[in-house]
Amino acid sequence: MGIIYLDNAATSWPKPEEVLNAMDNFSRNIGANPGRSGHRLSINAGRVIFETRESLAELLNIDDPLRIIFTKNATYALNIAIFGLLKAGDHAITSSMEHNSVMRPLREMERRGVELSVVECSPNGELDPQDIKSSIKNNTRAIYLTHASNVTGTIMPIAEVAQIAKEYDLIFCIDAAQTAGAIQIDVKDMMIDLLAFSGHKSFFGPQGTGGLFIGKDLEKEINTLEVGGTGSRSELEEQPDFLPDKYESGTPNTIGLAGLFAGVSYVLNIGIDKIRDLEMRLADKFIDGLISIPGVTLYGTKDASKQTSVVSFNIDGIDPSELAFEFDEKYNIMVRPGLHCAPSAHRTIGTYPKGTIRFSFGYFNTIEHVDFALEAIKKYTTMHK
Ligand code: ALA
Repeated sequence: MGIIYLDNAATSWPKPEEVLNAMDNFSRNIGANPGRSGHRLSINAGRVIFETRESLAELLNIDDPLRIIFTKNATYALNIAIFGLLKAGDHAITSSMEHNSVMRPLREMERRGVELSVVECSPNGELDPQDIKSSIKNNTRAIYLTHASNVTGTIMPIAEVAQIAKEYDLIFCIDAAQTAGAIQIDVKDMMIDLLAFSGHKSFFGPQGTGGLFIGKDLEKEINTLEVGGTGSRSELEEQPDFLPDKYESGTPNTIGLAGLFAGVSYVLNIGIDKIRDLEMRLADKFIDGLISIPGVTLYGTKDASKQTSVVSFNIDGIDPSELAFEFDEKYNIMVRPGLHCAPSAHRTIGTYPKGTIRFSFGYFNTIEHVDFALEAIKKYTTMHK
């Protein structure tokens, strides 16, 4: 069957041909530095970037594409949303299911004088919005929340938390690394102020792409983490204060964004609902199969409609790393073991410090892959009884 890639939560693979062709075309036929030189190739490179912003704005229901800034990954976008916004004396709220891309910058800000409340989720990874509400204080500035856990796939109650954020006039920031491109996101409807996304996961772009949506007027409150040449207002020795230039210094990853544009266009052509439907069916079948295998402990809601296509489990008495190694060596199945950079999530679900083995399905996986993976797990558990 060849390689069975089930590590889409880390990065999607394979990439659509369209993405590979777009990057090849950029290198061969455009290649110039966007927004700098004014010649035809530079203008074409700038157009690639603008089209990428426009396609993302269409997909995420953002009125002004210039409110999307590009970064090297979702982590950097979250760094801007956290380090750029919070000041000593502020209070921030997050959940115990966060990835270190949220947790580490928040812990660093705690060392710098920010108060932090980490709301405990249930052992299934579920968040009770009322726990967010009861953590709010006079100095609360922002809520940082993952859209879905990268460990259990559990989808968070974004609408309810957004309502609370609005009621108390708090900034609501979503880490959509695991969901953008896989689950419908409407930043207007969902009342999201800041949305960090990855380009190389469910948008099918190359690694090195990601970004941050910055809601109305927030650029006045969020500092940039780096300054430099933007190709605009070159007469100034100060950083421009307008979007997206304030946050986009230096030559961008235009070849990556050419790939991202093709990836986002691919998602727009298929439609998120169709992608979600397939991924939910794959996760549902996998969950169903795992439940019936003796010795398997499954984590999360065990309900594919309440999670992404990320499924974490353990096999009694076996180290997750050993399992992942065996699946790679013997069955050509690529998965991720361990803590998945989210130690707090593992404390929440009771799998710290060993973690779990995580199978994450993507749009290019099939029901046959699920069946093959389940057979491999059955064989493995039978052999190791
Ligand atoms: N955060 C990514 C993962 O969950 C890399 O694997």
